[in-house]
Amino acid sequence: AIERTLSIIKPDATKRNLTGKINAKFEEAGLRIIAQKRIQMTKAQASVFYGVHKERPFFDELTTFMISEPVVVQVLEGEDAISKNREVMGATNPSDAAEGTIRREFALSLGENSVHGSDAPETAAFEIGYFFSGLELVG
Ligand code: CMP
Repeated sequence: AIERTLSIIKPDATKRNLTGKINAKFEEAGLRIIAQKRIQMTKAQASVFYGVHKERPFFDELTTFMISEPVVVQVLEGEDAISKNREVMGATNPSDAAEGTIRREFALSLGENSVHGSDAPETAAFEIGYFFSGLELVG
């Protein structure tokens, strides 16, 4: 089915001017960027976004990193967009990521792993609504 998923190009990637190269990977995979904006989150905004991880030992490191530089938040649309985006990103840890994936090519470490993508339809709905209004999604 046609799905929508929330993607974030993370600070390590925006800082290294990789937005275009990462977007090319999405588009080559058949994902359409139907909304996109560059923002710099506050600690409070990042903490709510990553609320499911708040008890994890890496929560402070994660949220501090995510506000350290601007990020690009975007909505990707396409056939099975959630799983397709996860394939294009590769494994969370770049050392486990397959050849040709974004994280294999660009990520620096488990934390500085260049991209985030929603992991399920329910999280995609929450994450898209967190950053975008319906009017901003131009499919
Ligand atoms: P992301 O898909 O953005 O969702 C949560 C993020 O936490 C994940 O990508 C990783 O970048 C990060 N993360 C996961 N495990 C660790 C860890 N052990 N240490 C630091 N960051 C982590």
